[in-house]
Amino acid sequence: MIDSLNALRDAALAAVDGVSDLAGLSEVQVKFLGRKGELTQIMRGMGSVAPEDRPKVGQVVNEVRSAIETRIGEREEEMSNEAKRLKFAAEAVDVTRAGRAPIKGTLHPLTQVVREISDIFANLGFEIAEGREVEQEYYNFEALNIPEEHPARDMQDTFYVAPGTVLRTHTSPVQVRVMEAIQPPVRIIAPGKVYRCDSDVTHSPMFHQVEGLLIDEGITFADLKGVLEAFIHEYYGPDIGVRFRPSFFPFTEPSAEVDISCVFCKGSGCRICSRTGWLEILGSGSVDPAVFGFVGYDPEKVQGFAFGIGVERIAMLKYGIDDIRLFFDNDVRFLSHFR
Ligand code: DAH
Repeated sequence: MIDSLNALRDAALAAVDGVSDLAGLSEVQVKFLGRKGELTQIMRGMGSVAPEDRPKVGQVVNEVRSAIETRIGEREEEMSNEAKRLKFAAEAVDVTRAGRAPIKGTLHPLTQVVREISDIFANLGFEIAEGREVEQEYYNFEALNIPEEHPARDMQDTFYVAPGTVLRTHTSPVQVRVMEAIQPPVRIIAPGKVYRCDSDVTHSPMFHQVEGLLIDEGITFADLKGVLEAFIHEYYGPDIGVRFRPSFFPFTEPSAEVDISCVFCKGSGCRICSRTGWLEILGSGSVDPAVFGFVGYDPEKVQGFAFGIGVERIAMLKYGIDDIRLFFDNDVRFLSHFR
Protein backbone atom coordinates (compact mmCIF):
# COMPACT_ATOMS: atom_id res chain seq x y z
CA MET A 1 0.00 0.00 0.00
CA ILE A 2 2.87 2.31 0.79
CA ASP A 3 4.15 1.70 -2.74
CA SER A 4 0.79 2.72 -4.20
CA LEU A 5 0.81 5.84 -2.04
CA ASN A 6 4.29 6.77 -3.25
CA ALA A 7 3.30 6.08 -6.85
CA LEU A 8 0.20 8.23 -6.38
CA ARG A 9 2.28 11.05 -4.94
CA ASP A 10 4.71 10.96 -7.88
CA ALA A 11 1.89 10.88 -10.40
CA ALA A 12 0.06 13.71 -8.65
CA LEU A 13 3.18 15.90 -8.42
CA ALA A 14 3.95 15.31 -12.10
CA ALA A 15 0.37 16.20 -12.98
CA VAL A 16 0.55 19.39 -10.91
CA ASP A 17 3.75 20.39 -12.66
CA GLY A 18 2.22 19.59 -16.03
CA VAL A 19 -0.83 21.86 -15.89
CA SER A 20 -0.64 25.40 -17.15
CA ASP A 21 -3.67 27.14 -15.68
CA LEU A 22 -5.85 27.35 -12.57
CA ALA A 23 -8.63 25.26 -14.11
CA GLY A 24 -6.16 22.43 -14.82
CA LEU A 25 -4.87 22.70 -11.29
CA SER A 26 -8.29 22.30 -9.74
CA GLU A 27 -8.95 19.28 -11.98
CA VAL A 28 -5.76 17.68 -10.68
CA GLN A 29 -6.80 18.44 -7.12
CA VAL A 30 -10.19 16.76 -7.59
CA LYS A 31 -8.63 13.82 -9.38
CA PHE A 32 -6.15 13.01 -6.61
CA LEU A 33 -7.45 14.54 -3.39
CA GLY A 34 -11.19 14.87 -4.05
CA ARG A 35 -13.82 13.00 -2.09
CA LYS A 36 -13.95 10.36 -4.82
CA GLY A 37 -10.33 10.91 -5.79
CA GLU A 38 -7.47 8.45 -6.09
CA LEU A 39 -6.17 8.96 -2.54
CA THR A 40 -9.59 8.08 -1.17
CA GLN A 41 -9.65 4.99 -3.37
CA ILE A 42 -6.33 3.80 -1.98
CA MET A 43 -7.42 4.46 1.60
CA ARG A 44 -10.34 2.13 1.05
CA GLY A 45 -7.72 -0.64 1.24
CA MET A 46 -6.80 0.39 4.81
CA GLY A 47 -8.94 -2.47 6.12
CA SER A 48 -6.49 -5.03 4.75
CA VAL A 49 -3.51 -3.39 6.46
CA ALA A 50 -2.34 -5.08 9.63
CA PRO A 51 -3.47 -3.06 12.66
CA GLU A 52 0.09 -2.51 13.86
CA ASP A 53 1.07 -1.07 10.46
CA ARG A 54 -1.85 1.33 10.28
CA PRO A 55 -0.29 4.29 12.13
CA LYS A 56 2.68 4.07 9.79
CA VAL A 57 0.45 3.91 6.71
CA GLY A 58 -1.72 6.72 8.11
CA GLN A 59 1.38 8.86 8.47
CA VAL A 60 2.40 8.20 4.86
CA VAL A 61 -1.12 9.11 3.70
CA ASN A 62 -0.82 12.43 5.52
CA GLU A 63 2.62 13.08 4.09
CA VAL A 64 1.46 12.29 0.55
CA ARG A 65 -1.60 14.52 0.94
CA SER A 66 0.41 17.37 2.33
CA ALA A 67 3.14 17.03 -0.35
CA ILE A 68 0.50 17.26 -3.05
CA GLU A 69 -1.31 20.17 -1.36
CA THR A 70 1.93 22.06 -0.90
CA ARG A 71 2.88 21.67 -4.55
CA ILE A 72 -0.60 22.74 -5.64
CA GLY A 73 -0.25 25.83 -3.43
CA GLU A 74 3.13 26.65 -4.93
CA ARG A 75 1.85 26.30 -8.49
CA GLU A 76 -1.16 28.43 -7.67
CA GLU A 77 1.08 31.19 -6.46
CA GLU A 78 3.37 30.90 -9.47
CA MET A 79 0.40 31.15 -11.78
CA SER A 80 -1.06 34.16 -10.09
CA ASN A 81 2.33 35.89 -10.08
CA GLU A 82 2.68 35.18 -13.77
CA ALA A 83 -0.81 36.53 -14.41
CA LYS A 84 0.03 39.73 -12.53
CA ARG A 85 3.29 40.10 -14.40
CA LEU A 86 1.48 39.80 -17.74
CA LYS A 87 -1.17 42.27 -16.63
CA PHE A 88 1.40 44.85 -15.55
CA ALA A 89 3.43 44.31 -18.70
CA ALA A 90 0.33 44.96 -20.78
CA GLU A 91 -0.52 48.11 -18.84
CA ALA A 92 3.03 49.38 -18.50
CA VAL A 93 3.90 52.92 -19.53
CA ASP A 94 7.15 53.29 -21.41
CA VAL A 95 8.50 56.46 -19.86
CA THR A 96 11.29 56.63 -22.44
CA ARG A 97 8.89 57.10 -25.36
CA ALA A 98 8.51 60.56 -26.87
CA GLY A 99 5.36 62.35 -25.70
CA ARG A 100 2.49 63.39 -27.92
CA ALA A 101 2.99 67.07 -28.82
CA PRO A 102 0.11 69.23 -27.60
CA ILE A 103 -1.65 71.24 -30.31
CA LYS A 104 -0.41 74.78 -29.87
CA GLY A 105 -2.65 77.75 -30.34
CA THR A 106 -1.40 80.88 -31.99
CA LEU A 107 -1.73 84.61 -31.63
CA HIS A 108 -4.35 86.00 -33.97
CA PRO A 109 -2.65 87.29 -37.14
CA LEU A 110 -3.89 90.83 -36.42
CA THR A 111 -2.40 90.66 -32.92
CA GLN A 112 0.87 89.55 -34.49
CA VAL A 113 0.83 92.44 -36.97
CA VAL A 114 -0.03 94.99 -34.24
CA ARG A 115 2.86 93.67 -32.15
CA GLU A 116 5.30 93.80 -35.07
CA ILE A 117 4.29 97.40 -35.84
CA SER A 118 4.47 98.34 -32.14
CA ASP A 119 7.93 96.79 -31.77
CA ILE A 120 9.30 98.82 -34.67
CA PHE A 121 7.96 102.10 -33.25
CA ALA A 122 9.08 101.15 -29.75
CA ASN A 123 12.61 100.86 -31.14
CA LEU A 124 12.19 104.38 -32.55
CA GLY A 125 11.34 105.63 -29.05
CA PHE A 126 7.52 105.67 -29.21
CA GLU A 127 5.44 104.69 -26.19
CA ILE A 128 2.08 102.92 -26.33
CA ALA A 129 -1.00 104.95 -25.41
CA GLU A 130 -4.60 103.79 -25.04
CA GLY A 131 -7.83 105.64 -25.54
CA ARG A 132 -11.42 104.43 -25.43
CA GLU A 133 -13.53 102.60 -27.98
CA VAL A 134 -16.75 104.27 -26.81
CA GLU A 135 -15.79 107.89 -27.35
CA GLN A 136 -17.31 111.33 -27.13
CA GLU A 137 -18.10 112.99 -30.43
CA TYR A 138 -15.95 115.87 -29.24
CA TYR A 139 -12.77 113.74 -29.25
CA ASN A 140 -13.68 111.73 -32.32
CA PHE A 141 -14.56 114.81 -34.42
CA GLU A 142 -14.60 118.39 -33.03
CA ALA A 143 -11.19 118.43 -31.35
CA LEU A 144 -9.73 116.90 -34.50
CA ASN A 145 -10.95 119.93 -36.40
CA ILE A 146 -13.98 118.14 -37.88
CA PRO A 147 -16.90 120.45 -37.02
CA GLU A 148 -20.51 119.29 -36.87
CA GLU A 149 -21.49 120.18 -40.43
CA HIS A 150 -18.12 119.36 -41.97
CA PRO A 151 -18.40 117.02 -44.96
CA ALA A 152 -15.46 115.00 -43.62
CA ARG A 153 -17.86 113.45 -41.09
CA ASP A 154 -19.58 111.78 -44.00
CA MET A 155 -16.34 109.95 -44.83
CA GLN A 156 -16.76 107.97 -41.65
CA ASP A 157 -20.12 106.26 -41.29
CA THR A 158 -20.49 106.39 -37.56
CA PHE A 159 -22.24 104.18 -34.99
CA TYR A 160 -23.99 106.44 -32.48
CA VAL A 161 -24.31 104.92 -29.00
CA ALA A 162 -26.13 107.85 -27.42
CA PRO A 163 -26.40 111.55 -28.30
CA GLY A 164 -22.85 112.88 -28.25
CA THR A 165 -21.35 109.39 -27.86
CA VAL A 166 -19.99 107.22 -30.67
CA LEU A 167 -17.96 104.10 -31.27
CA ARG A 168 -14.73 105.75 -32.32
CA THR A 169 -14.33 105.77 -36.10
CA HIS A 170 -10.53 106.04 -35.91
CA THR A 171 -7.74 106.00 -33.31
CA SER A 172 -7.04 109.72 -33.86
CA PRO A 173 -9.03 110.81 -30.73
CA VAL A 174 -6.22 109.23 -28.70
CA GLN A 175 -4.02 112.08 -30.00
CA VAL A 176 -6.29 114.62 -28.34
CA ARG A 177 -6.55 112.71 -25.07
CA VAL A 178 -2.78 112.31 -24.86
CA MET A 179 -2.12 115.98 -25.64
CA GLU A 180 -4.66 117.02 -22.98
CA ALA A 181 -2.87 114.83 -20.46
CA ILE A 182 0.81 115.57 -21.08
CA GLN A 183 3.04 118.38 -22.32
CA PRO A 184 5.48 118.01 -25.24
CA PRO A 185 7.60 116.22 -26.16
CA VAL A 186 5.04 113.56 -27.15
CA ARG A 187 5.99 110.38 -28.93
CA ILE A 188 3.22 107.77 -28.84
CA ILE A 189 1.51 105.12 -30.89
CA ALA A 190 -2.03 103.99 -30.12
CA PRO A 191 -3.12 100.61 -31.48
CA GLY A 192 -6.75 99.62 -31.14
CA LYS A 193 -10.18 98.79 -32.47
CA VAL A 194 -12.28 101.26 -34.45
CA TYR A 195 -15.81 101.03 -35.83
CA ARG A 196 -17.63 102.14 -38.94
CA CYS A 197 -20.99 101.22 -40.39
CA ASP A 198 -19.41 99.59 -43.42
CA SER A 199 -19.16 95.98 -44.54
CA ASP A 200 -17.83 94.26 -47.67
CA VAL A 201 -14.80 92.18 -48.69
CA THR A 202 -12.38 94.99 -47.78
CA HIS A 203 -14.38 96.71 -45.01
CA SER A 204 -15.40 95.36 -41.64
CA PRO A 205 -17.63 97.25 -39.16
CA MET A 206 -14.91 96.65 -36.57
CA PHE A 207 -11.29 96.93 -37.61
CA HIS A 208 -7.92 98.02 -36.25
CA GLN A 209 -5.66 101.02 -36.60
CA VAL A 210 -2.35 102.09 -35.17
CA GLU A 211 -2.25 105.84 -34.56
CA GLY A 212 1.04 107.67 -34.23
CA LEU A 213 1.80 111.13 -32.86
CA LEU A 214 5.08 112.96 -32.38
CA ILE A 215 5.22 116.54 -31.04
CA ASP A 216 8.32 118.51 -30.17
CA GLU A 217 10.07 121.76 -30.97
CA GLY A 218 11.39 122.11 -34.51
CA ILE A 219 9.64 119.10 -36.04
CA THR A 220 9.17 119.27 -39.81
CA PHE A 221 7.60 117.21 -42.57
CA ALA A 222 11.09 115.75 -43.13
CA ASP A 223 10.86 114.07 -39.72
CA LEU A 224 7.52 112.55 -40.72
CA LYS A 225 9.05 111.19 -43.92
CA GLY A 226 12.09 109.85 -42.11
CA VAL A 227 10.13 108.02 -39.41
CA LEU A 228 7.57 106.52 -41.78
CA GLU A 229 10.21 105.44 -44.28
CA ALA A 230 12.18 103.82 -41.47
CA PHE A 231 9.06 101.98 -40.36
CA ILE A 232 8.13 100.81 -43.86
CA HIS A 233 11.65 99.62 -44.68
CA GLU A 234 11.84 97.79 -41.38
CA TYR A 235 8.49 96.12 -41.93
CA TYR A 236 8.61 95.35 -45.67
CA GLY A 237 12.35 95.27 -46.27
CA PRO A 238 14.82 97.85 -47.63
CA ASP A 239 13.88 97.35 -51.29
CA ILE A 240 10.26 98.45 -51.02
CA GLY A 241 9.36 101.71 -52.77
CA VAL A 242 7.71 104.48 -50.69
CA ARG A 243 5.62 107.33 -52.09
CA PHE A 244 4.04 110.31 -50.31
CA ARG A 245 0.91 111.50 -52.10
CA PRO A 246 -0.79 114.83 -51.24
CA SER A 247 -4.13 114.28 -49.55
CA PHE A 248 -6.54 115.88 -47.11
CA PHE A 249 -7.33 115.24 -43.46
CA PRO A 250 -8.96 117.94 -41.31
CA PHE A 251 -6.45 117.42 -38.47
CA THR A 252 -3.25 117.59 -40.54
CA GLU A 253 -1.83 120.27 -42.82
CA PRO A 254 -0.23 119.37 -45.10
CA SER A 255 -1.56 115.83 -45.35
CA ALA A 256 -0.19 112.86 -47.22
CA GLU A 257 -1.26 109.36 -47.99
CA VAL A 258 1.62 106.93 -48.08
CA ASP A 259 1.90 104.22 -50.70
CA ILE A 260 4.33 101.34 -50.98
CA SER A 261 5.34 99.72 -54.25
CA CYS A 262 2.99 96.81 -54.90
CA VAL A 263 4.20 93.75 -52.98
CA PHE A 264 2.49 91.42 -55.47
CA CYS A 265 3.77 92.71 -58.84
CA LYS A 266 6.84 94.60 -57.53
CA GLY A 267 5.45 97.81 -59.03
CA SER A 268 4.79 96.67 -62.58
CA GLY A 269 0.99 96.86 -62.20
CA CYS A 270 -1.50 94.10 -61.38
CA ARG A 271 -5.13 93.53 -60.39
CA ILE A 272 -4.48 94.11 -56.68
CA CYS A 273 -2.82 97.53 -57.15
CA SER A 274 -5.34 98.45 -59.91
CA ARG A 275 -2.44 98.52 -62.41
CA THR A 276 -0.86 101.52 -60.63
CA GLY A 277 2.08 99.62 -59.11
CA TRP A 278 1.32 101.28 -55.74
CA LEU A 279 -0.65 100.28 -52.62
CA GLU A 280 -1.91 102.79 -50.08
CA ILE A 281 -1.11 101.79 -46.49
CA LEU A 282 -1.56 104.84 -44.25
CA GLY A 283 -2.63 108.45 -43.83
CA SER A 284 -0.41 111.08 -42.28
CA GLY A 285 0.51 114.74 -42.06
CA SER A 286 1.82 117.62 -39.97
CA VAL A 287 -0.54 118.26 -37.06
CA ASP A 288 -2.89 121.14 -37.93
CA PRO A 289 -2.33 124.15 -35.60
CA ALA A 290 -6.12 124.20 -35.11
CA VAL A 291 -5.83 120.89 -33.20
CA PHE A 292 -3.21 122.44 -30.91
CA GLY A 293 -5.81 125.12 -30.18
CA PHE A 294 -8.15 122.46 -28.70
CA VAL A 295 -5.51 121.03 -26.35
CA GLY A 296 -3.75 124.25 -25.34
CA TYR A 297 -0.43 123.64 -27.08
CA ASP A 298 1.30 126.71 -28.53
CA PRO A 299 1.72 126.19 -32.31
CA GLU A 300 4.41 128.88 -32.34
CA LYS A 301 6.51 126.71 -30.02
CA VAL A 302 5.81 123.10 -30.99
CA GLN A 303 5.15 121.23 -34.19
CA GLY A 304 4.50 117.62 -34.93
CA PHE A 305 3.21 114.92 -37.18
CA ALA A 306 0.62 112.17 -36.97
CA PHE A 307 -0.24 109.06 -38.90
CA GLY A 308 -2.85 106.32 -38.95
CA ILE A 309 -2.13 102.80 -40.17
CA GLY A 310 -4.87 100.36 -41.17
CA VAL A 311 -3.86 97.06 -39.56
CA GLU A 312 -6.13 94.75 -41.60
CA ARG A 313 -4.92 96.37 -44.81
CA ILE A 314 -1.28 95.82 -43.86
CA ALA A 315 -1.99 92.21 -42.89
CA MET A 316 -3.98 91.54 -46.10
CA LEU A 317 -1.12 92.90 -48.20
CA LYS A 318 1.48 91.02 -46.22
CA TYR A 319 -0.26 87.64 -46.41
CA GLY A 320 -2.13 88.05 -49.73
CA ILE A 321 -5.58 87.79 -48.10
CA ASP A 322 -8.42 89.02 -50.30
CA ASP A 323 -11.38 88.93 -47.89
CA ILE A 324 -11.22 90.91 -44.62
CA ARG A 325 -13.94 88.74 -43.06
CA LEU A 326 -11.52 85.82 -42.79
CA PHE A 327 -9.89 87.62 -39.86
CA PHE A 328 -13.09 87.51 -37.84
CA ASP A 329 -14.57 84.10 -38.76
CA ASN A 330 -12.01 82.44 -36.47
CA ASP A 331 -11.86 79.35 -38.65
CA VAL A 332 -8.91 77.35 -37.31
CA ARG A 333 -7.96 76.31 -40.84
CA PHE A 334 -7.30 79.99 -41.57
CA LEU A 335 -5.70 80.78 -38.21
CA SER A 336 -3.35 77.78 -38.35
CA HIS A 337 -1.51 79.43 -41.28
CA PHE A 338 -0.11 81.98 -38.84
CA ARG A 339 1.74 79.66 -36.44
N1 DAH B 1 -7.78 108.92 -38.83
C1 DAH B 1 -7.61 108.73 -40.26
C2 DAH B 1 -8.62 107.70 -40.74
O1 DAH B 1 -9.05 106.89 -40.00
C3 DAH B 1 -6.24 108.22 -40.57
C4 DAH B 1 -5.22 109.27 -40.30
C5 DAH B 1 -4.84 110.13 -41.32
C6 DAH B 1 -4.67 109.40 -39.07
C7 DAH B 1 -3.91 111.11 -41.09
C8 DAH B 1 -3.71 110.38 -38.81
C9 DAH B 1 -3.34 111.23 -39.86
O2 DAH B 1 -3.14 110.54 -37.63
O3 DAH B 1 -2.41 112.18 -39.61
O4 DAH B 1 -8.98 107.73 -41.90
